Amino acid sequence: MTIDSKPTPPAGPIGPPVAHASTATPGHAPAQQRENADPSERVQPMPLLAAAVTLVMVLFGAGYVLMSDPFGDATLGDRRTVADLRAAKPGAPGAATAAADGKALFNGNCVACHQATGKGLPGLFPPLDGSEWVRGDERTVINILLHGISGEIEVLGTSYKGVMPAFKQLSDAELAAVATHIRSQWSNTAKPVTTDAVTAERKVSTRDTPFDGGAALKALAAAK
Ligand code: HEC
Repeated sequence: MTIDSKPTPPAGPIGPPVAHASTATPGHAPAQQRENADPSERVQPMPLLAAAVTLVMVLFGAGYVLMSDPFGDATLGDRRTVADLRAAKPGAPGAATAAADGKALFNGNCVACHQATGKGLPGLFPPLDGSEWVRGDERTVINILLHGISGEIEVLGTSYKGVMPAFKQLSDAELAAVATHIRSQWSNTAKPVTTDAVTAERKVSTRDTPFDGGAALKALAAAK
């Protein structure tokens, strides 16, 4: 082995730079031209179109709120009472709303005990459907609602001994609506109860305890 046949030392950090004629710039130029430019980072986290659409929506929303008079008169909302609706001509849109109101009041105040079927719960809550107390003299049902009942009451041949709370916190119009509702629901067909009738009963009544069962209610009806 002669000194001429010694292999070229590998190019490396410590080796001398080796010029390879075959891989010099002229050979690489076409490949470099084909490459895209390096990507550059720009400050644009959201597409402009999305930003513009969002801006338009926000401006529309803010404008809508401001134009609907948010700091104005709060009584502009629907503050009509059942009495107002009742005063409206029969057949007017209000008439149907008044009927729906009695139903809503029943669902909100009575349904938990007397049930949507009006049949109550056996042994616990008496039925309203078919009940003589509901269908009878309107003063009875008005007074039940104004004062509540505790003690023994017989409904449709079954005796109940529970407690029903008073609903005097409801307005006269509301009590009239719920009374009218239960008198005309299910198989009941008694005539409606007017707001005036409730107002009159509330005025003459001096009672501040619940009725002591059915006997006290019968006495009330008899004292008429
Ligand atoms: C907490 C349960 C409860 C709620 C709520 C309740 N009641 Fe009663 N209700 C009773 C009980 C219990 C009796 C029977 C009272 C007794 O045994 O002395 C009764 C009796 C009655 C009666 C007379 C008996 C009969 O079945 O006809 C009527 C009418 C009546 N309730 C109507 C209503 C109406 C209308 C509402 C809603 C505004 C209402 N009740 C809400 C428990 C309730």
